[in-house]
Parts: sequence; C-alpha cells; structure tokens
Amino acid sequence: MKYSVVAAAFCVATAGVAQAEAVKPMSVSFTDGAVENSLSGQAGDAVEGRKVFMNRKLGNCLACHANADMPEQPFHGEVGPPLDGVGERWTVAELRGIVANSKEMFPDTIMPSFYRDTGYTRILEKFDGKSILSAQQVEDVVAYLLTLQE
Ligand code: HEC
Repeated sequence: MKYSVVAAAFCVATAGVAQAEAVKPMSVSFTDGAVENSLSGQAGDAVEGRKVFMNRKLGNCLACHANADMPEQPFHGEVGPPLDGVGERWTVAELRGIVANSKEMFPDTIMPSFYRDTGYTRILEKFDGKSILSAQQVEDVVAYLLTLQE
C-alpha cells in the first residue's frame, strides 16, 4: 500500500518534468514581430511540422503559399509568397513570431494568427477560445520551415 502511493507520486512528478509548461497564447511576448523562446518549452520536430503545414484542418499553409518541397500536394495557393528558402530569409525567432501571430510582423496581413485564442476577424465556432495550433505544433512548423533552404 505504502509503496504504491510512492510509485504513483513518482509517476506524476516525472510526467510533470517531461511535459514543460506551454506559454499561453495571450502571454506570448513579441519583439519586433519575433518570439525568442520556444512556446512549448521543447524543440520542434520538423517531420511533424511538415504534416501540420499541409494538413488542411491545421496549418493549411498551402491554401496561400506555394512550397516546392511538397510537389505531391495538389493545390498551392498564391495569396502569400512562395515559402521556398524561407529558412534562410528569417531567423527561428522571426519564423516563430510569424506563425504564432503574423500581425505582429505584418500588421495588415490576411495570414491567420495560429497561436491566438481571441481576436479573429472571422471566428469559426469550433475555434472559439482555442488557438488553431498548439504551442508544440507551432514549434514543429517552425522547425520544418527552417529546413526550407534554397
Ligand atoms: C490566408 C492566407 C495565408 C495562410 C493560410 C497562411 N499564410 Fe503565411 N502569409 C500570407 C501572406 C499574405 C503573407 C505575406 C505577408 C503580408 O501579408 O505582407 C504571408 C507570409 C508568410 C511568411 C513570410 C514569408 C516571406 O518569405 O517573407 C511565412 C514564413 C509564412 N507566411 C508562413 C506561413 C505558414 C507556416 C502557414 C501555415 C501554418 C501560413 N503562412 C499560412 C498568407 C497566408
């Protein structure tokens, strides 16, 4: 009995360490449109980020951006600039800022803010009170964007 309580407490403690606290969408601190530190407290995973990028219900980045790294995807939009070589044009902090809330970098942009939970111009009911991407998904997309070199 005594031992199982100790074991359970130990599990909770280690889970807490493994899962770093994410920065809440409204607490993200921008400097000139850039965000210095990881939103999730963890490194991004470029392989996951590529999936989020092309997922029409998550990033849906292809709706507006062409990306030569994804020729297998049928439709590439032209509303925003092609993202080829974007990992060379911007720093990691700038890319994080652009993906989290592009309005901080481009005040009048139509690009959605992927890590905000209020202030959408068009609120989809299912997104009300939630950000489109989680902190870790933002980090994963940023890690993926950094692989886009020309
Ligand atoms: C509704 C259209 C739209 C969607 C969806 C969109 N963007 Fe954008 N994005 C833009 C526009 C437009 C710009 C140009 C900035 C401006 O408005 O001046 C831009 C700019 C950028 C830039 C800077 C590019 C450069 O070369 O200067 C990056 C990086 C970027 N977007 C990444 C993304 C990622 C990653 C996603 C998906 C998670 C995404 N965008 C989704 C419209 C969009």
